[in-house]
Amino acid sequence: MFSVSVIGLGYVGLTFAACLANRGFRVYGVESDEEKRKLILEGRPPFYEPGLDSLLSKAISCGSLIVMNDFQSAIQNSYITFVCVGTPSRDDGSVDLSQVESAVREVGRALKKKNGYHLVVLRSTIPPGTTEGLVKKLLEEESSKIAEVEFGLCFNPEFLSEGKAIEGIMKPDKVVIGAVDERSGKLLLEFYREFYSGKLPPILLTNPVNAELIKYANNAFLAMKISFANMFSRLCSKLKGADVAVVMKGIGMDSRICNAFLGAGLGWGGSCFPKDTRGILFYAKKLGVDLKLIRASIEINEEQIEYALELAENLIGGLRDKLIAVLGLAFKPGTDDVRESRAIKLIEKLLEKGARIRAHDPKAMENARRILGDRIEYAGSIEECLSDADLCILATEWPEYRQINSDLLKKYMKSPALLDCRRLYDPNQFRGIRFAAIGLGP
Ligand code: UDX
Repeated sequence: MFSVSVIGLGYVGLTFAACLANRGFRVYGVESDEEKRKLILEGRPPFYEPGLDSLLSKAISCGSLIVMNDFQSAIQNSYITFVCVGTPSRDDGSVDLSQVESAVREVGRALKKKNGYHLVVLRSTIPPGTTEGLVKKLLEEESSKIAEVEFGLCFNPEFLSEGKAIEGIMKPDKVVIGAVDERSGKLLLEFYREFYSGKLPPILLTNPVNAELIKYANNAFLAMKISFANMFSRLCSKLKGADVAVVMKGIGMDSRICNAFLGAGLGWGGSCFPKDTRGILFYAKKLGVDLKLIRASIEINEEQIEYALELAENLIGGLRDKLIAVLGLAFKPGTDDVRESRAIKLIEKLLEKGARIRAHDPKAMENARRILGDRIEYAGSIEECLSDADLCILATEWPEYRQINSDLLKKYMKSPALLDCRRLYDPNQFRGIRFAAIGLGP
């Protein structure tokens, strides 16, 4: 079996490393953050991801995942290196490649001292052209070796969805390999054949620039689908009897459209869609290409918060000094991640309007506190969150919030009123109280 190293044990790197280790590979994980390393070495993931804790503790205790901060040793001991460091967004929307640059330089320096062939695989989302441009150049410069001859290079994007990351690695819809040459591509393919024990998922073998574009286009398309649903949600709001959930269900029954990612709501957040849509827009603009659909998708996403505010104001007649119970802080259910969370954006706007906020989330409270601090109150339970509130807003559709019904709202709230921003509830069940929802006509 191949021995592999994984550079960067963040969300993508750690889940990937834990899955590899549990499939019998010997994995050398490199992480520079000491705090993170300490937690991982204790078998504890530094973030919440269902199923990861048991995979990780198994991998650490049986010694198949070795965690270190030593590029030399990781590269010496492995045959394939996966680079999984972050590529955050800068304020202007451009992609910050500094982590990729420094990780790749370190890999190059380690390659210099290594005898024999080695395969370097980039998994971080990087702008088109980066693999064959920047990455190849840095590796050659630092290692004094020649790409395609003394080492191989691929871009192999991940399509992990938080909350379902392990399933995403074990049973992906596809594996995309962008290889600089035939040998690199074949080798990575061979690795995946071993990983999936011969039962390979559909594979697309192409050049690096196509693979880089696939990653951006994939995320942009999904974000666009959601924005499409959100665009219609505003039209539905104006039409008596209209319901965006039904309209999207109807179009989703067309197999050419499919019903995934047509859920209207507060819009998309998280660590990928916002960053990657901005990233590709910025990149294309530099080449003189205006990606209009993506630009519109971002605009619709931003406006969706204003639309939710309007619904809230109309429902309870002004927001100043009102106590609002916000259910859900994570950018989506199943994670404690609050990066670009729409719930938090909404809370910021509600605060600007003079509302008081009390919020609840099953997992993301601690992370939200780092952003919102003591500007809001935090509730330990749904009931506590609802107590004496003037309005309840469902902002993240955690399954535990399904239990909410008119009786519960009447029992705890000052005056029951519910705004469903994620279309979790059946409007018919809230007939006796003030109720509004994204994309629901009057
Ligand atoms: C996404 C992609 O799905 C994944 O392939 C890529 O690798 C990283 O980005 P993730 O950010 O984990 O994954 O979450 P995802 O489930 O895609 O949701 C993103 C956002 O869209 C969330 O804020 C979610 O609430 C929102 N969303 C999703 C909707 O508003 N409506 C939908 O129908 C689906």
